[in-house]
Amino acid sequence: MITRKSTREIEQMRLAGDILVACHKEIAKMIKPGLTTMEIDSFVEEFLKKNGATPEQKGFSDYPYATCASVNDEICHGFPRKEPLKEGDIVTIDMVVNYNGGLADSAWSYAVGEIDEKGQKLLDVTKKSLYLGIEQAQIGNRIGDIGHAIQTYAEAEGFAVVREFTGHGIGPTIHEPPHIPHFGQPNKGVRLKEGMVITIEPMLNEGAWESKMDSNGWTARTIDGGRSAQYEHTLAITKDGPVVLTEQDESIE
Ligand code: CO
Repeated sequence: MITRKSTREIEQMRLAGDILVACHKEIAKMIKPGLTTMEIDSFVEEFLKKNGATPEQKGFSDYPYATCASVNDEICHGFPRKEPLKEGDIVTIDMVVNYNGGLADSAWSYAVGEIDEKGQKLLDVTKKSLYLGIEQAQIGNRIGDIGHAIQTYAEAEGFAVVREFTGHGIGPTIHEPPHIPHFGQPNKGVRLKEGMVITIEPMLNEGAWESKMDSNGWTARTIDGGRSAQYEHTLAITKDGPVVLTEQDESIE
């Protein structure tokens, strides 16, 4: 069932979002060659605890960590590791914060040290595609409008959109209906209504869109070894348009 949240419920999710944003801003400062994703994971767990929040991913379907940490050809659901990040890597840190029952979900890709031009373009285009998708998250639009905006832009820039993993409704649990694909046809799919809270989280690949699954049963990586990037926000559909609950850029809020 697609739930619609009250203003109060959305405000509770925003408080979770505020903690999540603060955590991502700290990660942005930490990222450098030599750091391990296991160290980031421990930092996140500690940071959330200090702020009275919990990592909702940990224990979800027996997932063992507070974050997903996906490096280079890993698309999503990478396991944090003790292997150091290297100059030029792309690492995506995804987390879901629970604060007094309010949930917020946001993944962010980071460049480790200096990155090559194509890698930087992959990051820039992926982030912009997220915001183009968010622009479409208006009352009366349909889910296909979001995916169409993302896909049209991403493909024109020479990147491929991952099909197997989508955005989703969120709250009271991590994954609620509906699915929000990052590709599609305009004016198709579920109509967006006031009070829906969803994630939009495009994953773009520099090569083919297809993925394969690691033997751990969680981690998806690109089929051709090309790199993948992802940016994700949690947002509410409101009369005043989409309201991002995990915005890091104060000038946008
Ligand atoms: Co996420």
